[in-house]
Amino acid sequence: MDTKKSESIMCEPFLPFSKPSINSDDISAVNKVLRSGWITTGSKSAEFEKKFCEYTGSPNAVALTSATAGMHLVLKAFGIGPGDDVITPSMTWVSTINLITMAGATPVFADIDKNTLMLDKESVEKCLSEKVKMIIPVHFAGAPVQMDSLQKMAQKHNIVLVEDAAHALGTQYKNIKIGSQGTSIFSFHPIKNITTGEGGMLCSDDDTLIEKIQRLKFHGLGMDSFDRISQGRLPQAEVLEPGYKYNLPDILAALGLSQLNRINGFNEKREALALHYLELLNDVEEIIPLNPPEADIKHSWHLFIVRLDIDKAGMSRDRFMEDLKKNNIGTGLHFKAAHLHRYYKDHLNITPGSLVNTEWNSKRILSLPLFPDMTHKDVHRVVTVIKKVLKK
Ligand SMILES: Cc1ncc(COP(=O)(O)O)c(C=O)c1O
Repeated sequence: MDTKKSESIMCEPFLPFSKPSINSDDISAVNKVLRSGWITTGSKSAEFEKKFCEYTGSPNAVALTSATAGMHLVLKAFGIGPGDDVITPSMTWVSTINLITMAGATPVFADIDKNTLMLDKESVEKCLSEKVKMIIPVHFAGAPVQMDSLQKMAQKHNIVLVEDAAHALGTQYKNIKIGSQGTSIFSFHPIKNITTGEGGMLCSDDDTLIEKIQRLKFHGLGMDSFDRISQGRLPQAEVLEPGYKYNLPDILAALGLSQLNRINGFNEKREALALHYLELLNDVEEIIPLNPPEADIKHSWHLFIVRLDIDKAGMSRDRFMEDLKKNNIGTGLHFKAAHLHRYYKDHLNITPGSLVNTEWNSKRILSLPLFPDMTHKDVHRVVTVIKKVLKK
C-alpha cells in the first residue's frame, strides 16, 4: 500500500467495535418519563413487556435490570443448588457460570461446534447424568442453536432447558422467533441489538415460572411492584418468599420501547454490513468467519465474529487486535472460554485440551466492528486495515 493511502487510514477517527444507535425519539421518550413524576417500574415497563411479547410472539415477558438478573432468577425459581449440575458451553459470557457457581451448583461444560460456536449435541449427551437439572444453550452472535435435538434430549431426561438469547433479538429458527416458545433470556446491554443502557427480558410459555419470576424480581412480594391507582407499591404487599430487586425502571423501559420500534431496521442494517464483510474477507485466507447453522434460520447479526488463522498470520490473536487498535479499529473478544479464567482454572477440575473446539476458538476469536450506524465505507476501511496488518 502506498504511504499516502496508509496515512489516510491512520487519520480516520477510532472506529469502536460497537456503538448504540440513539436518536431524538429515544431522548424525548426518556425525557417524557423524567418529567412525568413516575420514573421507576410502572406503565412504561408494562408496555415494554407487552410490545416485546408482540414482537417475539412470547406469551409472557418480564422486564428486568439485566439478562444476568434473569438467569439468576431462573436458577433460583428452579431451585438449582448444591449437588446439581448445569450443562452449558464454556464459550459464553461468564455471568452464567458465575451464577451457577454462586448457587452452589456445578457448571458442566459441553464442547461447541468448531464453526458455529453452538453447543455440540454429542458433547451434551456425554455430559448427561442424574445430577443434571438444567441445560443452558447460547444462541451465539445472532444465529440460533439447533433447538430440535436439545428439546428432545431435555424432554426425555426431564431436564429444564433455558435459552440464553442475549444475542438473539429477531433471530429465527425454522421460521420461529427465539423467545416465542420455551424460556429465553434477552439482554439490552449497550452493544446488543436494542439497548436500555442496562436491562433484560425473560420470556416464557411456562405460567408457573412467570408467576415465580414476577415475585422473585421484587423482594418476593405477592403483589405487583406498581399499582396504577395509588401510583406506587401497594403497602399491604407481603413477602411470600425472600426475593431480589431486579425490576426495570420506566426511564429504561421508555428507551427500550423507542428502540424496539426500530429493531427491524437495525437488524437489516446489521445484515447488510455483515454480508459486505463476508464478501470483502472472502480472499483473506488468514481470516475464518463463522458458519451459519445448517437449518432454515434468520440471523440477527448481533456480532461479526471471525477467527484468526494464527499459523498463516504468524501472529497471535492478541497481537492482531493490538495492531488493529493502533490503526484506529476497535475489536471485541466474545469470548475467552470461561474455564480458562483464573478462578475456574483453579476451582474446576477440567483437563486442559478436553474442550477441543472451545479452546481452539478461545485462542483465535475476535469480533470486528458491527453496529447499525456504521457505513459500508467503514467495513471497507476495517478490511483494508486487516490486510495491511496481515501483510506486515
Ligand atoms: C451470551 C451472553 N449471555 C448473557 C449476557 C449477560 O447480559 P447482561 O449484560 O444483560 O446481564 C451476555 C452479555 O453480554 C452475553 O453475551
